Amino acid sequence: MDSPALDMNREEAEGIAKNFVRNKDFIRMMTLYKCAIMEVETKLNVLNEEFSLQYDRNPFESIETRLKSPASIIEKLQLRGIPVTVENMQSKLYDIAGIRVVCSFKEDIYRLADLLIQQDDILLFSKKDYIENPKPNGYRSLHMILDIPIFLAEGKQHLKVEVQFRTIAMDFWASVDHKLKYKKQINHADDVQRRLKSAADTLAMMDDEMESIRQNIDRID
Ligand code: GTP
Ligand code: MG
Repeated sequence: MDSPALDMNREEAEGIAKNFVRNKDFIRMMTLYKCAIMEVETKLNVLNEEFSLQYDRNPFESIETRLKSPASIIEKLQLRGIPVTVENMQSKLYDIAGIRVVCSFKEDIYRLADLLIQQDDILLFSKKDYIENPKPNGYRSLHMILDIPIFLAEGKQHLKVEVQFRTIAMDFWASVDHKLKYKKQINHADDVQRRLKSAADTLAMMDDEMESIRQNIDRID
């Protein structure tokens, strides 16, 4: 596929990138994304506290946040052949603000996700359920793009935040998979893919088994 980004020489691309990151509107937008992360993270922490009172356990194992780096923002726009502007980064990229929530049980993922999107000021922009429908390589997680308002002196602005929910087992698989992908050349790639998929399926069975054990314990209590 032809894209303007590929026609551009390296110097031109670097020039655009340098000016872009110095742009006041860009710096302001990155601050707003940071605020959007803080807002959703707080909402999740509040749910975690409330949940632990009700069910006597913390649904989260961990919560991680990340702001996409300026270099990755520029690269993603350029790869898609989209002009590098603040408007385009806001309207075309949905993962500048990212939150990853790792839970012990699959059931808790859906409960938390539902409680989050039920909140008045949050709008669910899109959802990809790779737990119900895993990727062909075995990847599992629940991805949601949320649209949230940030209240500013001059009014409110809507921003997108990507939230990924996983179990510990799914996170273990995704971390190792991610590491392996950085290897330049993988010999016997078909075999590697088959074994990774099989490991993902085994981990999914373990998740179901752990959940079933917990349900049994809760019944006895
Ligand atoms: P991106 O352009 O990467 O955002 O892809 P997308 O818009 O098609 O979104 P998708 O929901 O498929 O994946 C978004 C994110 O999920 C990635 O940036 C990763 O963090 C994670 N992810 C998706 N697929 C995989 C996978 O196969 N392995 C691992 N380790 N992570 C994945
Ligand atoms: Mg992404």
